[in-house]
Amino acid sequence: MDLLIVGSGFFGLTIAERAAASGRKVTVIDRRPHIGGNAYSEDDATTGIEVHKYGAHLFHTSNPSVWEYVNRFTTFTNYVHRVYTNHKGVVFPLPINLGTINQFFRAAYTPDEARALVHEQAGEFDAKEAANLEEKGIALIGRPLYEAFIRDYTAKQWQTDPKDLPAEVISRLPVRYNYDNRYFNDTWEGLPTDGYTAWLERMADHPNIEVQLDTDFFDESQPLNKKATVGQVQIVYTGPVDRYFDYAEGALSWRTLDFEREVLDVGDFQGTSVMNYADADVPYTRIHEFKHFHPERADRYPGDKTVIMREFSRFASRDDEPYYPVNTPEDRAGLLAYRELAKGEKDVLFGGRLGTYQYLDMHMAIGSALSMWNNQLA
Ligand code: FDA
Repeated sequence: MDLLIVGSGFFGLTIAERAAASGRKVTVIDRRPHIGGNAYSEDDATTGIEVHKYGAHLFHTSNPSVWEYVNRFTTFTNYVHRVYTNHKGVVFPLPINLGTINQFFRAAYTPDEARALVHEQAGEFDAKEAANLEEKGIALIGRPLYEAFIRDYTAKQWQTDPKDLPAEVISRLPVRYNYDNRYFNDTWEGLPTDGYTAWLERMADHPNIEVQLDTDFFDESQPLNKKATVGQVQIVYTGPVDRYFDYAEGALSWRTLDFEREVLDVGDFQGTSVMNYADADVPYTRIHEFKHFHPERADRYPGDKTVIMREFSRFASRDDEPYYPVNTPEDRAGLLAYRELAKGEKDVLFGGRLGTYQYLDMHMAIGSALSMWNNQLA
């Protein structure tokens, strides 16, 4: 073995694929029973509907080298992501756009009229002097829209009143003064035609790549553990950086999600793939309905059944799956200390979402792995 990769998410698999193609022998370990990290999907046992096990994954990118690279392993459907939100039992389009504004104020404002209204309502606070997230939100879009679409949803995401959250959590709240409700603005967007797992498996399908699942890097009963391998072989580590150093500089904080999956005896539950729930009286943040990600599979998917998944958000404890970095000032200081420790770690490179404590979309994880390969490993 020339290279050991800890973690089989998009970051680890991209490094593995590049290294194998250049003739190196690679072993990828993952503590989960499947490859692919959080992008993994599986077919629901009763309906055959592809379910994104760790929450909705939409591929989008404007990076030509990433787009060229991913197309070596999969084609993409022409799916375009759109999100709606339920507020007080009425459904509005997101991100906030002229359609949302006119429906909310029961008006027919032109773009200039809507802009002037939001500007006037936002005058209540100065964004630069906002003392907390609530004041910042009002300073960006005005109190009525903030209270309807941002306040309670944010409180549910953070389990914290936005008055007690730092203003820096949001830098901007996009408002579109037209009726465009495409969720992403990227050049390319779509879902892998044969599903995420087929794509991920094709990346790992090379005689120079060996994958070992159910293998935790910190479990000393396994041969490929940290103690046995560091200094012996080159390593790319994509697990949590604080865990690698045994939390020597403190634990970095994360938010996690809980998912509740259900098969329903209806053909179509909500008419769209993702419905947010903006209000405090509904405990979940959103509901995914997976069949809507693949309208082109209508003839394969059952007409009388559907799979939905409710998503709940909360702070992660050490045993939970870490999903989104919280990024408090203490976390940022801790991360700098871990980066210093990482520099001293011989022949170990830290990458990916967990290894760098950054939220990365899939195209960013793949792009950053291609850079690490080209600049540090090739
Ligand atoms: P990832 O977390 O996927 O992989 C890390 C792997 O390391 C895991 O498989 C883990 O089991 C393994 N590991 C950790 N510790 C280990 C240990 N000690 N030993 C062995 N293995 C270990 N992106 C996007 O572009 N569009 C989207 O819509 C979404 N949606 C989305 C929803 C949610 C809820 C999340 C959390 C994330 C997204 N993403 C996304 C982001 C996407 O999931 C992300 O970009 C990729 O998973 C990044 O891949 P990584 O390889 O960095 O991490």
